[in-house]
Amino acid sequence: KIYPIILSGGSGTRLWPLSRAVLPKQLLPLVTEHTMLQETALRLAGRPQLMQPLVVCGNEHRFLVAEQMREIGVAPLGILLEPVGRNTAPAVAAAAHYLQAIDPEAVMLVLPADHVIADVDAFHAAIEQACVPVAEGALATFGIVPTAPETGYGYIQSGAGTGAPHCYKVDRFVEKPDRETAQGFVAAGNYYWNSGMFLFRAAAYLDELRQFAPAIAEASAAAVAQGYRDLDFCRLDEAAFTACPSDSIDYAVMEHTRHAVVVPASIGWSDVGSWSALWEVQQSDENGNVARGDVYLDDVSGSLVRAESRIVAVVGVKDLVVVETADAVLVAHKDQVQRVKQIVDHLKAEG
Ligand code: GDD
Ligand code: MG
Repeated sequence: KIYPIILSGGSGTRLWPLSRAVLPKQLLPLVTEHTMLQETALRLAGRPQLMQPLVVCGNEHRFLVAEQMREIGVAPLGILLEPVGRNTAPAVAAAAHYLQAIDPEAVMLVLPADHVIADVDAFHAAIEQACVPVAEGALATFGIVPTAPETGYGYIQSGAGTGAPHCYKVDRFVEKPDRETAQGFVAAGNYYWNSGMFLFRAAAYLDELRQFAPAIAEASAAAVAQGYRDLDFCRLDEAAFTACPSDSIDYAVMEHTRHAVVVPASIGWSDVGSWSALWEVQQSDENGNVARGDVYLDDVSGSLVRAESRIVAVVGVKDLVVVETADAVLVAHKDQVQRVKQIVDHLKAEG
C-alpha cells in the first residue's frame, strides 16, 4: 500500500508579499481556485492504490490544514504537527515512524504541498514505474529534464538501467550546486532536476537515515512515540522534536544513499518558486498578461498583476510583476523576481 505524505511546511518567501509565515504559499489559491495543498490532495483522489494522505505541517497551521482538507472532502489519514520546523529529513522521518506503527510494510509517497503538476496521468504512471525498484528497497526520485542551470534544485546523475522499465540507478545526487557546477550538469545531458517527490518503503528510508543521520532518526522516533494524539492530529513531542537536528532529506539522505533510483518524469512539473514561475504556469491573455483581482491594464504585456484588496491600474509597461496586498505592494521586473527573497530578509532584519 502506498501512503501519500504531504509536506506542508516552508514559508515560500519568494512569493512575498502574498506568501507569509502565517499564510504560506501552499495554503494559498495561487494557480486555481483551490489552494496548492488542496490541489496536491485532489491530484491523488480516485487512485485505488493510494491510501488517504498524511499531512505534515507546523502546529500553527493545524486548523487551516484541517479546514482545507474538509473543504475538498478529503479525510486525511492523519495530520502530524511539528512544534518547530526542522526541515524535510525530520518531517519525513516522523511520518515514516508514524506509518510503521500502522503498517510495517508501508510505502511512502513524499509530496511537497506547493508544486504544480499539469499532467496528472503521467505523474501516476511514473509512481507506478517507481514501485518496482521500491519493492526491492530502492529510494526512488522523479527526475525533471533541466531547462536552465538553476542553483535551487538537486541534480540527479542517472546511470545504468535497473532492469525495471523507465528506472535508472542514481550515480550521483548533488543538492543545490553552485552556478558553474550546475552549468556543467545541464551541458552533460545525463542529469535531471530532483522534483522533490520521493517514493520508498518507510523502513528503507529509516535504514538510510539511521546510517547517515542517526540523531535525526532517534529524535524523530522519540517525537512520535511521545507524541500526543487528538482526533486526526498527532502532535509531535515538543522537547524531542526541538532537539532534532535540522536538515533536508536531500542533504541528509539522498546525497549519501547508494540505493537511489530515478524515474524520468515528463509531468508538466513546476515548483512555482518565484513570481515569474507562477506567471509561466498560468494561462495568459492575448498580451501575455496574467491578471487576478480588480485589475485595470492598458498597453501592458508579459506581466503578472494581482490585486488582493484594492484596484490596481497598470499602464504602458511590459514584463512586470505587480502584487498588491492590504499591507504591502511589490513592483518588480519579471527577470529580477529572485531578489524578492532579499526583501523578506531585509524586513526580518528590520524587525
Ligand atoms: N512539514 C514540513 N516541515 N514541510 C517542510 C519543511 C518542514 O520543516 N521544510 C520544507 N517543507 C516542505 C516545503 O513546504 C516544500 O513543500 C517541500 O517541503 C520542500 O522544501 P523546500 O524548502 O521548498 O525545498 P527546496 O525547494 O529548497 O528543495 C527541494 O525541492 C527542489 C524542487 O522543488 C529539494 O528536494 C531539491 O532537491 C529539489 O530540486
Ligand atoms: Mg521548494
